[in-house]
Amino acid sequence: MNPIRSMLAVPAFALALWALNAQATTDEAIAERIKPVGQVCVSGQECEGIEAVAVATGGASRSADDIIARHCTACHTPGLLGAPKIGDTAAWKVLADKQGGVDGILAKAIAGINAMPPRGTCGDCSDDELRGAIEKMSGL
Ligand code: HEC
Repeated sequence: MNPIRSMLAVPAFALALWALNAQATTDEAIAERIKPVGQVCVSGQECEGIEAVAVATGGASRSADDIIARHCTACHTPGLLGAPKIGDTAAWKVLADKQGGVDGILAKAIAGINAMPPRGTCGDCSDDELRGAIEKMSGL
């Protein structure tokens, strides 16, 4: 083989190996990604992996308590910066009555108001999840 050809052949071989390897990695990654979705879960039994998938996709398997504990409690437990406190139904009711009920304060929570960040920092919470958290915190 002349030197030029062998210089070209080596990288071509390396590239082919690399491509094969990349393909294998991708297949593995895909199998890993779709695996939990294919698992059969029996209602009432613990189902490993499903919760993580649901959370990653913004699914509805988070309870209102989970969301509050993760995203709302830091401000709404101490009443930080004028946040209505968890369980202080009277305070929440004043706000809700002024704004057409839970729908009104939900809209504010989604958009953010003053020191209250949009979606209360839960960027991947659905509107329904936020509503659940608000109802739980307010008792409304
Ligand atoms: C960084 C602090 C902070 C976090 C985190 C936070 N809040 Fe708030 N929230 C506030 C403050 C402050 C107010 C009062 C805003 C005002 O009226 O000036 C408020 C007000 C609200 C209101 C009433 C809005 C209105 O119309 O008056 C709702 C509803 C609410 N928060 C929901 C939530 C939910 C749900 C979460 C969690 C997903 C959350 N908040 C997380 C600070 C926070």
